[in-house]
Amino acid sequence: MAEIKIMVTVDNLKYRYPLTEELALKGVSLEIASGEFIGVIGPNMAGKSTLCQALVGLVPQFYHGAYGGRVIIDGLDAAHIELSKLASKVGIVFQNPFTQVTGAKMTVYDEVAFGLENMGLARTEMIRRIDEALTMLDIYEFRSHNPFDLSGGQMQRMAIASIIAMRPQVIIFDEPTSQLDPQGSEEVFKAVRSLSRQGMTIIMVEHKIEKIAKYADRVLLLHQGRVVDFDRPQKVFSRPDLENYGVTAPVFTNICKGLNITDKTSGLYPVTLDDTYRQLRANNSEFGK
Ligand SMILES: Nc1ncnc2c1ncn2[C@@H]1O[C@H](COP(=O)(O)OP(=O)(O)OP(=O)(O)O)[C@@H](O)[C@H]1O
Ligand SMILES: [Mg+2]
Repeated sequence: MAEIKIMVTVDNLKYRYPLTEELALKGVSLEIASGEFIGVIGPNMAGKSTLCQALVGLVPQFYHGAYGGRVIIDGLDAAHIELSKLASKVGIVFQNPFTQVTGAKMTVYDEVAFGLENMGLARTEMIRRIDEALTMLDIYEFRSHNPFDLSGGQMQRMAIASIIAMRPQVIIFDEPTSQLDPQGSEEVFKAVRSLSRQGMTIIMVEHKIEKIAKYADRVLLLHQGRVVDFDRPQKVFSRPDLENYGVTAPVFTNICKGLNITDKTSGLYPVTLDDTYRQLRANNSEFGK
């Protein structure tokens, strides 16, 4: 088996925003391996966005406040390394594609070029990276368009392309589809899945639980600034106390709970359609014996 490389380490992270009383993160510890797709779930105020900001160093470097513990991204200490250096390892995509557009550039091409301009790359290398990022996000055909003429889904893919062009190993998504229509959301999920398949480490906060069930290798359940669970989707979504943490299981999990379609050895419920189908077949072949 290939050796597992730890890409992200969070060690007892505690954080309080300035002028607030309660800790937003109350001792979060976790490790993420290179190439994993992590889904982050939890109710409002759980600390999901704060954790994202800590992974890219904005907490505490931009927000300041009280900070304890450590966040290490591929060997770099996120609280202390220059943010521009960290940006070549880890990028972040936010909810609203509009707020991520610089507004200073007239074309999609120049917008994607913008982040690279301060990296000191040779011109040919810049062009190579921009073309590659536009192609990967399937927006090459829009390269001469004004960013504000794009649909929400296209604009969000442009934001992702801008990050990809910097070649980070980790990308954080904080509810990247919550402002998009169903088509735009689907475009973004497809794009993220293809990045994941190419080996990028993905950490995605998302309320669309069916998507997390389908794509995530592991699910991080946060509640009131603490890690409740960090495990395979089947494990997290089979928890009988899930709703106590403000999270509803995927629809297939609930159907299977109702019909008692479960893996007899582990006691876990399926989380997707494919999973349900597989489990039904397995259970039926047991009956047939
Ligand atoms: N900029 C800020 N200044 C002060 N407090 C903040 C700030 N951002 C978040 N908080 C506080 O930190 C805690 C965690 O909030 P956070 O935004 O990380 O939660 P979340 O899980 O992302 O919630 P949501 O699902 O609503 O996006 C909350 O108590 C919140 O009020
Ligand atoms: Mg949030």
